[in-house]
Amino acid sequence: MVTGTATRMTTQPAPSAGERRLTLLGATGSIGDSTLDLIRREPERFPVEAVTANRNVAGLAEAARRVNARLAVIAEPSRHGELEDALSGTGIETAAGADAIAEAAARPVDLVVAGIVGAAGLGPTMAAIRAGNDIALANKECLVCAGQAFIAAAEKAEITILPLDSEHNAVFQVFDSDQADGIEKVTLTASGGPFRTWSRAEMAAAEPEQALRHPNWDMGAKITIDSATMMNKGLEIIEAFHLFPVTTDQLDVLIHPQSVVHGLVAYADGSILAQLGSPDMRTPIAHCLNWPERGPAPSRRLDLAELGTLTFEKPDDGRFPALRIAREALARGTGATNILNAANEIAVAAFLDRSIGFLGIAALAEATLDRMERQGDIVSPASVEAAIELDHAARAVAEELLPEIRAQSYAL
Ligand SMILES: NC(=O)c1ccc[n+]([C@@H]2O[C@H](COP(=O)([O-])OP(=O)(O)OC[C@H]3O[C@@H](n4cnc5c(N)ncnc54)[C@H](OP(=O)(O)O)[C@@H]3O)[C@@H](O)[C@H]2O)c1
Repeated sequence: MVTGTATRMTTQPAPSAGERRLTLLGATGSIGDSTLDLIRREPERFPVEAVTANRNVAGLAEAARRVNARLAVIAEPSRHGELEDALSGTGIETAAGADAIAEAAARPVDLVVAGIVGAAGLGPTMAAIRAGNDIALANKECLVCAGQAFIAAAEKAEITILPLDSEHNAVFQVFDSDQADGIEKVTLTASGGPFRTWSRAEMAAAEPEQALRHPNWDMGAKITIDSATMMNKGLEIIEAFHLFPVTTDQLDVLIHPQSVVHGLVAYADGSILAQLGSPDMRTPIAHCLNWPERGPAPSRRLDLAELGTLTFEKPDDGRFPALRIAREALARGTGATNILNAANEIAVAAFLDRSIGFLGIAALAEATLDRMERQGDIVSPASVEAAIELDHAARAVAEELLPEIRAQSYAL
């Protein structure tokens, strides 16, 4: 049994009410879009310092204009000229490159929304933390890749991490940190994704278009595929372990196809507290933007009588091995969870490219972990820099193993 680490998030003094200056990392993504929608409804309360993207110049320029950001940064240096043209005459500053993204993240603001996808989010989020900015954390990969090193950096900088991921935000809302000893179990729910009722044979032949059709949530491609494999819930168990003072044994997953109950905390007296809401990221984002107060979000209101029935079932590790692989990685420590994440990113990209079959995703993650274990390369990173190095090494191993997995993945 391993014990997780409490973050400072529940012990911080409350920020003052009124204006809250924001920076939005990953402004052109799904989290970015939902956040921009909330900002646009209250522009005076949420002035924007910076918005960033990877390659999507048109989306970034549109985002910057929508919220009148001071700075827009594109990661891909060759697109800087295009961005300058798109924003000429607006007075919005522009910059390009990975260092410029980190510099944007480090500008002093009240809250940085960490909405970049994948391990690419780790560097910029760390730059924000080291500059003393509070974080609304959507990028679960920060915790999966760097674990305790990430939490330690946040503690050293005395910043607050607010969980933005819907399940973790739900748990945050019902987790009584003053009564942590009286908590028996934390449960994250999962919709089960588009293949919840599919057999392994059906999944072996699944096309990217089918895996991208999430039944409840409208999200970016990577997390949508992770939901289909259930790797997303595996990454989220790892994320929860680092966010809340719980042991691995206290973390549970329930399949809940309606995606209405997002997270539950069970207490020693038999009470279970849960957070409910329609599946719309604007609710947890609004919670983070306004915390510790409450602010408005236009999410559809739940009508429980109209819903009538909410159902729950246990996950099936046989059909969805990703959850088991993620749990095993968590038990082995952050070296293993880092490798798991890197291999999964390579595998998801390969599946979307049609280079491997759907079942090859979990298979590549497991094969990469096994290969690196045999080589003695699973070492928990002592720093965020070491986590980034390990991520690169794991990607190289996963790329090497791809042809082998390609050959088997349609028949697994
Ligand atoms: N979507 C959801 O509902 C949801 C819910 C909970 C948690 N999350 C988490 O939130 C994060 C974002 O998810 P998403 O669904 O919003 O992803 P997404 O729609 O794919 O958007 C990703 C964003 O990151 C940017 N980006 C990608 N690679 C980058 C790089 N190397 N450097 C700088 N920026 C980069 C993208 O820019 P371009 O557009 O230019 O590529 C885009 O702005 C993920 O960690 C995900 O697990 C998402």
